[in-house]
Amino acid sequence: HENNIKNLYRIHEMAQAFFHNCLTKTSYGKPGLLYLKKRGINNDIINLFHLGFAPPGWDKLSSAFIKRGINENLLLQVGLIVKKKTSGYYDRFRERIIIPIKDEKGRTVGFGARLIKDGQPKYLNSPETLLFNKRNLLFGLNESKKYIRQYDYAIIVEGYMDAIALASHNIANSVASLGTAFTAEQCKKILRYTSNIYFCYDGDSAGQNATLRALSIARGQHAAVKVILLPDGSKDPDEFLQKHDAAAFNKLIDNAVSFIDFHLHYIMQNIDYTSLEGKLKAVSFILPILSSIDNLVESNAYAVKVSQTLGIDETDLRNELQKYRKHSN
Ligand code: CTP
Ligand code: MN
Ligand code: MN
Ligand code: MN
Ligand code: MN
Repeated sequence: HENNIKNLYRIHEMAQAFFHNCLTKTSYGKPGLLYLKKRGINNDIINLFHLGFAPPGWDKLSSAFIKRGINENLLLQVGLIVKKKTSGYYDRFRERIIIPIKDEKGRTVGFGARLIKDGQPKYLNSPETLLFNKRNLLFGLNESKKYIRQYDYAIIVEGYMDAIALASHNIANSVASLGTAFTAEQCKKILRYTSNIYFCYDGDSAGQNATLRALSIARGQHAAVKVILLPDGSKDPDEFLQKHDAAAFNKLIDNAVSFIDFHLHYIMQNIDYTSLEGKLKAVSFILPILSSIDNLVESNAYAVKVSQTLGIDETDLRNELQKYRKHSN
């Protein structure tokens, strides 16, 4: 078992070096470099994250590794090769940018891989293994942890490319939650470095819903949370930074909204609260949120804000809140 774990680390290390070499030193890597340059990713960032490129062809990695005496079962186990229906196998990652995913100790434990052309799936990831457990990992934590501690907050984004774009703009304290829902385990990892978490997920409805869930998870772990809102016209932090500079993103950070303000923002974007029906819907959405705030002074202050925003009577809302609290106890 111990031996197997060691081999798993070693194979990831070797694969990372293989892909990185392919990107930076071979003619196969040229389209990959061009793609990264187009996205504004320079050599420092390529080296910081050890980005790579998977060459085209079905057996570049497997034939090179088997020549070096690597056991094919090990390659199968970590998902670098895939079994054919008939016999034999082929390389999982082909003609893709390779994004090594590391643990906090900097050991590569899996890969994300992006197409450089349009197509599906846009991203392909390593399968879950003994080392690669997505619930427990945050992309970029090894690179950002020292800045998270120094600045005393972490920015959580959805995508690899968002964390990479932020790092490219010297905003070095971000991590990506690997496209999955933000987990309590990921939250605990961050809380070792700071208690302040700023979420900046994509502005689409999937991102907004993921933010609601992430806020609830993080508050459950007693993190202090805020949400960075992207202006319309930027789908995600990377797109924003393609159009604007770091100073503009820092302004978004300064204007990050509170937990309750994000919920109000969500209501304004998703519920037509001008009708009575909409008001009722908005109230039933916000009551559990208000009641989750233990401090009564705070929740009452928010109740005022909520009633003003929704155009409902403050006393009515407070009464509903009291009823809700009694009910849920
Ligand atoms: N993701 C994935 N598989 C997919 C799509 C997404 O694993 N088929 C994960 C990736 O970790 C990705 C994250 O979800 O980084 C966010 O997805 P999305 O917003 O669609 O991708 P972007 O990061 O915006 O990708 P890009 O900017 O490269 O188009
Ligand atoms: Mn998205
Ligand atoms: Mn995105
Ligand atoms: Mn994107
Ligand atoms: Mn920019």
